[in-house]
Amino acid sequence: MNLPPGPKSPYFWQLLQILFNPTDSLDKWSKKYGDTLKLGGNKKPYTVSFSSPDAIQAILTASPEAIGSVQKSELVKTLLGDSSLIFLPEQEHQRQRKLILPSFHKESLENCGREIVNVTKNTMLNLTSGDSFEVRSTMKKISLKVILYSIFGTKDSFNDEQISQTIIKIFNRFDSPQLACYLLTARFIPIFLNIEIGVWKTFKQLQQKLDILIEAEIIKQRESPKSFEKNLLSLLLLAKNENKQSLTEREIRDAIMTLIFAGFETAAAAMSWMLYWVHYIPEVREKLLDELVFPSDNIEPMAVVRLPYLGAICNETLRITPPALSAFSRTVKQKIKIGKYDLEPNTKIDVSIYLAHRRKSVYPEPNKFNPERFLQNQFSPYEYLPFGGGQCRCLGASLAQFEMKIVLATIMTNFELQIVKPKPLKPKRHGIVMIPPQLSMKITQKK
Ligand code: HEM
Repeated sequence: MNLPPGPKSPYFWQLLQILFNPTDSLDKWSKKYGDTLKLGGNKKPYTVSFSSPDAIQAILTASPEAIGSVQKSELVKTLLGDSSLIFLPEQEHQRQRKLILPSFHKESLENCGREIVNVTKNTMLNLTSGDSFEVRSTMKKISLKVILYSIFGTKDSFNDEQISQTIIKIFNRFDSPQLACYLLTARFIPIFLNIEIGVWKTFKQLQQKLDILIEAEIIKQRESPKSFEKNLLSLLLLAKNENKQSLTEREIRDAIMTLIFAGFETAAAAMSWMLYWVHYIPEVREKLLDELVFPSDNIEPMAVVRLPYLGAICNETLRITPPALSAFSRTVKQKIKIGKYDLEPNTKIDVSIYLAHRRKSVYPEPNKFNPERFLQNQFSPYEYLPFGGGQCRCLGASLAQFEMKIVLATIMTNFELQIVKPKPLKPKRHGIVMIPPQLSMKITQKK
């Protein structure tokens, strides 16, 4: 086996750099060692990280027998449950994907469009005109309502307020340094996840509360399915497993938690970055406003999603500041050659979305926010991949892009925003998502 070069520092030091200074570290290492990196020190478990389009294509199109998914962390399992699709073996994983995907098809999204406009308007109207607001927490409120709508239906048909509050409380815990230290320790000593003390105990209590609330909704819709409109939960309730049995409450709960976990913070981060870029570069804002010619009380979601410059802004935001730095790690199952490297079974591999999006040969001036590049060029799915690809490609990609466009169009048509203290922002890690640190904006309602 021949392996690429990479940083020589010890595993623990590299881990700290990837956790606390990820983008600078990746920039530094790729400049020094090239586009394929061996990360994690000399001894296993190291990871080989790829970012060239050819290598990414080889990884994402490899058969499941050659490259498979990596065992996810115990923490994620504790949160999402054993039957979450991301833990399922290959065939079951694909089966559950097929079950969920129709909820994000065009027709289902069309129903969602009007709701996204209303949720955005109401959330922004709750802010005081003339005051500043914290952008990410506001985008979180919107993205959570959108996901809950696609899962449970309109807010009148389920316990919207209690479920939303509990989810927000759970995710806010990830900001706690005590919890971060506890989880970092548990990464090395997984038994800590079974001991309920201190911050972890509070976290688990919130999780149990959420489980009870979600299971109550499942039972309610199972008992009187006709009174609920079509939503993701209704599809899961109709679904059968390979033994022709309905999914259990626990399996449905795990599917719901997976969608919330994967989609809530990622979409909120993407929308926060989008508001940042549009208001940081005045020409981009002006050009976008020229394209948005809707009356403020009649935003037509299906027309909005077809606007070319708005689409280009959305794409460029996900290129330059992708919420996920890399796709889920994969593992080599059969000896395989990727680029010039022969990899042995059990080698962990990584597709670096961040570095792929910063290749000068594909994206000239990669650090410049330039939506036009998406109007002038078409990029392959191995050059541009904010949602990963292959067997694990993001299930919520179409919902996320649909939501980003409608939210931005609704905000820009109804309100004026201004960044408080505009300055270049470096992405900061928040759990698995890269967020803009401390972004506040002043809001004024348009007359
Ligand atoms: C801008 C927002 C989002 C970004 C950038 C994003 C990105 C990603 C990425 C990079 C992956 C890993 C793909 C791979 O390994 O190849 C992923 C997986 C996933 N995402 Fe998203 N995501 C977003 C929004 C959402 C939303 C809104 C949902 C659901 C409502 C969602 C549900 C999922 C699920 C279920 C998976 C696991 C798929 C599987 O294992 O088969 N995501 N996402």
